[in-house]
Amino acid sequence: MFLGEKGVIFMNFDFSQEERMVMETAREFAVNELKPIASEIDRNHKIPEDVIKKLSKLGFFGVYVPEEYGGAGLSFLSYVLAVEEISKACASTGVMLSVHNSLACSAIYKFGTDEQRKKFLPILTSAEKIGCFMLTEPEAGSDVASLFTTVEKKDDYVINGNKIFVTNGGFLGYGILFATHDKSQRHKGISAFILDLKSEGVRLLRNEDKMGIRGTYTSAFALEDVHIPKENLLGQEGDGFKIAMDLLDGGRVSIAAQSIGLAQAAFEKALEYAAQRKQFSKPISSFQAIQFKLANMSMRIEASRLLTYKSTWLKQNHKNFVVESSMAKTYASETAVYAAKEALQIFGGYGYITDYEIERIYRDAKITEIYEGTNEIQRIVISKMMFK
Ligand code: CAA
Repeated sequence: MFLGEKGVIFMNFDFSQEERMVMETAREFAVNELKPIASEIDRNHKIPEDVIKKLSKLGFFGVYVPEEYGGAGLSFLSYVLAVEEISKACASTGVMLSVHNSLACSAIYKFGTDEQRKKFLPILTSAEKIGCFMLTEPEAGSDVASLFTTVEKKDDYVINGNKIFVTNGGFLGYGILFATHDKSQRHKGISAFILDLKSEGVRLLRNEDKMGIRGTYTSAFALEDVHIPKENLLGQEGDGFKIAMDLLDGGRVSIAAQSIGLAQAAFEKALEYAAQRKQFSKPISSFQAIQFKLANMSMRIEASRLLTYKSTWLKQNHKNFVVESSMAKTYASETAVYAAKEALQIFGGYGYITDYEIERIYRDAKITEIYEGTNEIQRIVISKMMFK
């Protein structure tokens, strides 16, 4: 894609050789290593250690972190393509990588000092510790500025409060933690910190039992007099809200990629099944009712890709992509839920039993409309910009 004379965006749909290679590597890994065990990951609520090791060897725990900090030094588009391919086989693994890369590694690479980058990034990119994002609280979900977790500045920063819905929290790696110095300051009172989840006072309360993406940890924590060293502050005091928003802009693009992977998996399964399944002496794919479902699914998947690649391009070229990332996340997640629902309908009763995997995709897809900002919040972001 490139900008023409009048600022019109022209799209070039060719991926670079490197991007194609990353996509193929991710696809190969997804098909050979993840697809055969995706149901087991869902059943056991766990991504096996050796999957994590292999993904880290492929560079997927620091896809666009520069090589000097232990990353693979690839483009953001390469990362988006990898998340799509991985999520097509296993959405749990997709979101584990997404949160680790776009919310944790990005936080430190973009807002950290060089010292922080050198200290923390190699540990994250080698998957020695897995990153998470500690923003949401029991009483502060969509309204981030109202968060209750407090920080007091003493010799260290001292944290007290609760965090919930922390994807990857159960790994007890590094968390990007948000806390307020003064609640009455709303978004201006919030700071961001790098927290080692093995610190004293960090209590893992539970890993939630969920409808979908059951292979991931979604954790709740109590933080009781947790001391964070001064050098673990990200940016300046009071920068936390804007850091969170900036990271979520990128995170939402990767949730869009995860959604496309889910939708594509549902579509391909339905297409194959419709060609094989015979009723009234012919394949059900010969009925228009089925053909139209498949046509609608493929149209929406294509539109989701275009929105996602456009916001990726804007991000890569350091342009404002706030609205585009919200559009991509909203449209792609609604496509994932739509495609999963229609695919399940095409499978009929077989779609409802676990042997055919469509029911897992259906369960996994729903969360994409909720996390990293509900689609209602995305519509607020999109419409707010219209009236600016
Ligand atoms: N990028 C950069 N800056 C932004 C921004 C963005 N996307 N959105 C807002 N800002 C800036 C504004 O410009 C404003 O700056 P000034 O102070 O300079 O004017 C400031 O931040 C405050 O903005 P608002 O007044 O718009 O803030 P608000 O309190 O009304 O909230 C909101 C806006 C969009 C609703 C925001 O609270 C939001 O995004 N909520 C959803 C939170 C969310 O996505 N949570 C998911 C958590 S992570 C997760 O899902 C778990 C996981 O592990 C996967």
